[in-house]
Amino acid sequence: MRVVVEEEEEEYPSTPGKVKVERSAAMSRQLHRCFASTGTLFLWALFLVATTATYLSFRSFVDTSSSRYFPASWGGLHWERQIRASASPRRPPGSAEGAGLSVLVTGAAGFVGAHCSLALRKRGDGVVGIDNFNSYYDPSLKKARRALLGSHGVFVVEGDINDGRLLTKLFDVVPFTHVLHLAAQAGVRYAMENPASYVHSNIAGLVSLLEACKDADPQPAIVWASSSSVYGLNDRVPFSESHPTDQPASLYAATKKAGEEITHTYNHIYGLSVTGLRFFTVYGPWGRPDMAYFSFTRNILQGKPITVYRGRDHVDLARDFTYVDDIVRGCLASLDTAGRSTGTGGKKRGPAPYRIFNLGNTSPVTVPTLVAILERYLRVNAMKHVVEMPGNGDVPFTHANISLAREQLGYKPATSLEMGLKKFVRWYLSYYGYNRGTHEFNDHYL
Ligand SMILES: NC(=O)c1ccc[n+]([C@@H]2O[C@H](COP(=O)([O-])OP(=O)(O)OC[C@H]3O[C@@H](n4cnc5c(N)ncnc54)[C@H](O)[C@@H]3O)[C@@H](O)[C@H]2O)c1
Ligand SMILES: *[C@@H]1O[C@H](CO)[C@@H](O)[C@H](O)[C@H]1NC(C)=O
Repeated sequence: MRVVVEEEEEEYPSTPGKVKVERSAAMSRQLHRCFASTGTLFLWALFLVATTATYLSFRSFVDTSSSRYFPASWGGLHWERQIRASASPRRPPGSAEGAGLSVLVTGAAGFVGAHCSLALRKRGDGVVGIDNFNSYYDPSLKKARRALLGSHGVFVVEGDINDGRLLTKLFDVVPFTHVLHLAAQAGVRYAMENPASYVHSNIAGLVSLLEACKDADPQPAIVWASSSSVYGLNDRVPFSESHPTDQPASLYAATKKAGEEITHTYNHIYGLSVTGLRFFTVYGPWGRPDMAYFSFTRNILQGKPITVYRGRDHVDLARDFTYVDDIVRGCLASLDTAGRSTGTGGKKRGPAPYRIFNLGNTSPVTVPTLVAILERYLRVNAMKHVVEMPGNGDVPFTHANISLAREQLGYKPATSLEMGLKKFVRWYLSYYGYNRGTHEFNDHYL
């Protein structure tokens, strides 16, 4: 169900893990070259210079606390003032919803993070974002989302969740009541190209964040994004929270599953309130360019062919596509019902909630149907290239059972794929400037 975009060179988000491998390979190459040579004075001198240079650069690598990996673009009185202003709730005193929350949103310049930050701000909560603006997909889209947030008074810190000093500083400046953790390396197929980026953000980054949360005083309640991909090879439908999730089909899924286990230990040992949300294929305006509905739209408009994957025995792939506004409502309801973390001074003082919910739409739609809806809104026929799905980690079918979220969060998805794609296409055309001078086209068809 993914599109092949051959003309595009993907850039890789850099990770400490990646850099290390390249450095040591370069060093052993150098050693090999020198010992294989004739051993003249000149070459030995060269060898000395090379080893010193390699040593120096290696030393700066092992010193990960240096500003080399986490540029200190933060700090200072002005910065702290901006953080405090952004974090303070603006609900009128005595309002029906009670006092406002103060939420740290990780991945705030991302698709879901931007929508959630905006929704929180609009209902009067305080929000501070953090995002590393990596180039997994076009960072200009992340910067545009940040600009949108900025215009609503939400400040987004440029930083990595692996930067423990930055996180500690943020909790020193603001007693956040909640953390909405959405920063992650997303995408299933990309895990085969850059596995280290998944470990960096979804494992190491998660632990770094949880460490800061358990040390914070007061401890915040944590709501974070897991994924429907944890159901992996499970073939009982609809997917229910009680189904086994021990057969992930991709490294992405495995890191999300690991996240569920890791957050459980922090809940158990330190009394952190944890809510894990298993999102089912989220789509909508300001979405992620690496996802099929987005790249289909781009290619259809550019007259390029799209690759539609099909499961074995000619069965169409289907996804439980969930509109982003529905996901946002589920996230906010999770924050509102999270319950308190119980620890202080890094010690648990009593049991804290640990919850997991599916957030889906409960009506799977096949990929050809998705394409047909896009064709209708775009008024262009797609050039479809149907091929059998390679075994790259994508599962053939997802379908959420959402009764638990309905019962405990009042979660009730309200947007059909037809309606949601209409809003997506309208956003896409205006964001990428297709409707300049062709307003009639838009008004008539959207
Ligand atoms: N969109 C979906 O269909 C979907 C489905 C299931 C789960 N999820 C999960 O929901 C969350 C949000 O997804 P999204 O679609 O908005 O993705 P996204 O890529 O648009 O947003 C993630 C953001 O996190 C940032 N980020 C990544 N690593 C970071 C790090 N180490 N430090 C700081 N920032 C970092 C990225 O720059 C990005 O802006 C993710 O955890 C994702 O795995 C999404
Ligand atoms: C959905 O999950 C609930 C438990 O949360 C269960 O009682 C119900 O039978 C499930 N529905 C289906 C259709 O499997």
